[in-house]
Amino acid sequence: MPAPSAIEQLAAADPASWWRQAVVYQIYPRSFADSNADGIGDLPGITARADYLADLGVDAVWLSPFYPSELADGGYDVADYRNVDPRLGTLEDFDEMIAALHARAIKVVVDIVPNHTSDQHEWFQEALAAGRGSAARERYIFRDGLGEYGDEPPADWESVFGGPAWHRVADGQWYFHSFAKEQPDLNWDHPDVHEDFLKTLRFWSDRGVDGFRIDVAHMLTKDLSEPLPSAAELAEIPVDGNHPLLDRDDVHEIYAEWRKVFDSYDPPRSAVAEAWVHFDRVPHYASAESLGQAFNFDLLQADFAAPQFREIVSHNLRLAERSGSSSTWVLSNHDVFRHATRYGLVRHDHETSAPWRHVGGWLEAGAAESQLDRKAGERRARAATLFLLGLPGSAYLYQGEELGLHEVAEIPAEQRQDPTYFRTNAESFGRDGCRVPLPWAASGPSFGFGEGGAHLPQPAWFAEHSVASGNDDPESTLNLYRRALQERARLQTGGDLEWVETGRDDVLSFRRPNGWTVITNFGAEPYETDTSAAVLSSAVSVDGLVPGDTTIWLADA
Ligand code: NOJ
Ligand code: CA
Repeated sequence: MPAPSAIEQLAAADPASWWRQAVVYQIYPRSFADSNADGIGDLPGITARADYLADLGVDAVWLSPFYPSELADGGYDVADYRNVDPRLGTLEDFDEMIAALHARAIKVVVDIVPNHTSDQHEWFQEALAAGRGSAARERYIFRDGLGEYGDEPPADWESVFGGPAWHRVADGQWYFHSFAKEQPDLNWDHPDVHEDFLKTLRFWSDRGVDGFRIDVAHMLTKDLSEPLPSAAELAEIPVDGNHPLLDRDDVHEIYAEWRKVFDSYDPPRSAVAEAWVHFDRVPHYASAESLGQAFNFDLLQADFAAPQFREIVSHNLRLAERSGSSSTWVLSNHDVFRHATRYGLVRHDHETSAPWRHVGGWLEAGAAESQLDRKAGERRARAATLFLLGLPGSAYLYQGEELGLHEVAEIPAEQRQDPTYFRTNAESFGRDGCRVPLPWAASGPSFGFGEGGAHLPQPAWFAEHSVASGNDDPESTLNLYRRALQERARLQTGGDLEWVETGRDDVLSFRRPNGWTVITNFGAEPYETDTSAAVLSSAVSVDGLVPGDTTIWLADA
């Protein structure tokens, strides 16, 4: 048996803290691997790829929702929280999947969507059938409309996905939905809602789930006392803990209840909050009394630029100190344009426009290939990934980034699925381009995703990014990720970071307590430095030089 790596030793010393410096790989189940040729990825597909995940070297997987769903929002419209969508498998398949992953020392995190259910959920169906004034409607947010005939919505609010946030049902009442109209918001003042989510957390914990990712964790509680403010008034209300809809202090009362459930298991179940809140309020979610960890999405919104990266890292490490949690780092997920494309666009307006918005603009303008330098994008993505993997804290990777995938622009309107595309009248291209089924083989039906095609169209260039192509090329992004995760596990150390001055504005360097040193050259000019202790580089390197768009790791032996 090989000697335990540093990360294994840390985990063994404190099993309750496995998540603090974990590499968590996000699976979007419908697009990972299809085992039964219906064009949709499924749980047995994940089980069949357990060795792939183990070879990659991840510590955990986080599964986006695999629950029964009408797919009005890619599964974030949950019809039954304690079951598996029949198109994705069964509970037995889930048990087999978790056993296969645990056998390879990979933890499993599942997604909890507590702000809203699907309109197909039995509670909502019951509420529709039971009619106005019924107890069943109390579990959601129903109101009578305004105007003489009640045919105007209770407020003129817009949903997060565009379009109105109130929808009228057949008997004339209206219900509130923060997202799509198929996602009615739950009423968290109702005891049934509390009880049911506690039951769901126990259900999956009992099935061996190690942790939870909490969807829009900052939106659950609301103060909808009348009169409701107008959209214009709402926009003026400070988000300071008492806002009617967002980031209310009382949401943490829910997480205190959940914390008791998490801590009743051994080791305690972990949780990470998806909370789009002002940074000053992130530590509330990340504290040990609340969810324990929170996503930091700053890098999703940053350019590939040294000053921005440095500021984001320093700032988030200070925030993590305040909460006592560890920081999280994310370059891509199922909601944003892939980072290889963000970094590869030829950006004329780069001073003024945030890069992820820019990908949107590029898509809208016809996604001209001449505006995308694919090689540069992938080179910078690799450099950014090695930078991120050297940082203290948890790294969240999104399926396909290890293949160097770009955003898929070539999706015809009639094949798009994301509700944001439809609810904005195609103004926003939405998130389908990062959710295209993975290429496992360089050829064949759906590039090895399955035998029955893919539910979103795969472009021809997927061939050269397939797992098979990556396996064959020692310099591939896939092999770089494998080496990086192996080295990271070996070098993992205490959570401190010390900046090393480089004498250049476009070169960052930091050192971890055991001497593990990361140098990233964000510029074009090679950076001269002693590289004799190099253990890894994101690009082919020359002794004594860190080329442009490159990260190297240095370590003692
Ligand atoms: C955040 C999820 O990440 C996103 O995919 C989803 O559409 C919304 N929450 C609504 O559940
Ligand atoms: Ca399938």
